[in-house]
Amino acid sequence: MKTLTTAAELHAFTEQARAAGQRLGLVPTMGALHEGHLQLVRAAGQDCDVVIATIFVNPTQFNNPDDFRLYPRVPEADAELLRAAGCTALFLPSAEEMYPQPAVLRFDFGPLERVMEGAHRPGHFNGVATVVSKLFHLARPHRAYFGQKDWQQVAIIRQLVADLSFDLELVAAPTIREADGLAMSSRNRRLRLAARAVAPRLHEVLQAAALQVKGGVGAAQVQAEALTALAQEPAITPEYFEVADAQTLQPLQQYEPGRAVVLCLAAHLDGVRLIDNVVVEP
Ligand code: PAF
Repeated sequence: MKTLTTAAELHAFTEQARAAGQRLGLVPTMGALHEGHLQLVRAAGQDCDVVIATIFVNPTQFNNPDDFRLYPRVPEADAELLRAAGCTALFLPSAEEMYPQPAVLRFDFGPLERVMEGAHRPGHFNGVATVVSKLFHLARPHRAYFGQKDWQQVAIIRQLVADLSFDLELVAAPTIREADGLAMSSRNRRLRLAARAVAPRLHEVLQAAALQVKGGVGAAQVQAEALTALAQEPAITPEYFEVADAQTLQPLQQYEPGRAVVLCLAAHLDGVRLIDNVVVEP
């Protein structure tokens, strides 16, 4: 596996592969890799000739300086995992390389970003869209792979691809969970034992709410009961729980026949902010 650290190296490498007729898969990450990331790499390996994983803890998408500072950084261990998963090249740039000058362009995704993560983390999706656009321009992948744990991020990137006519296929892969249901996340490494023990409650509450949605319980009641259930755990501080249309992400008052519903939450456990979601198909 090659390690590339400059934008010029990445660009040259991917252009050469393209010119040789190879199909390129891009897996953008912020590192501290887990099985969810590795499954994206393996999926890319099955679909494409060349797999490029990127590891960059993107400062512009963090609205909380502590979250940025404490974000786990283990590039050597990550590189080993990527190599074993069949990755062809790792792009590991510095902040100066990705942002030789501060970006002034601002993205506005309208209603898609006025809810959930966008509402609770001002500027977050601007930072995500900025760095993902840069990566798409530099690598010009045929396919780009993202995890559905970040449901809203996938929706935003889908909009980005459509609005800016990026010539690539977006692949969204299902959330990978630990045996007890906790969604895999790089931030899970920061959970201490007591918080880790209660963390599966997040998925349990989502599952219970999904059953209620399937049973026709109204969205407001589902939301209220889920928030109460989360708040009953002293170690969990819920930030939001939304019952939303799975495509538009807008909160629902009532369910529309034939449309999927997504249940999304964010919560704090021992100073660590986690998100998760489940989709209820019609
Ligand atoms: O999902 C992530 O890890 C990040 O938001 C991404 C897509 C790599 C952009 O920094």
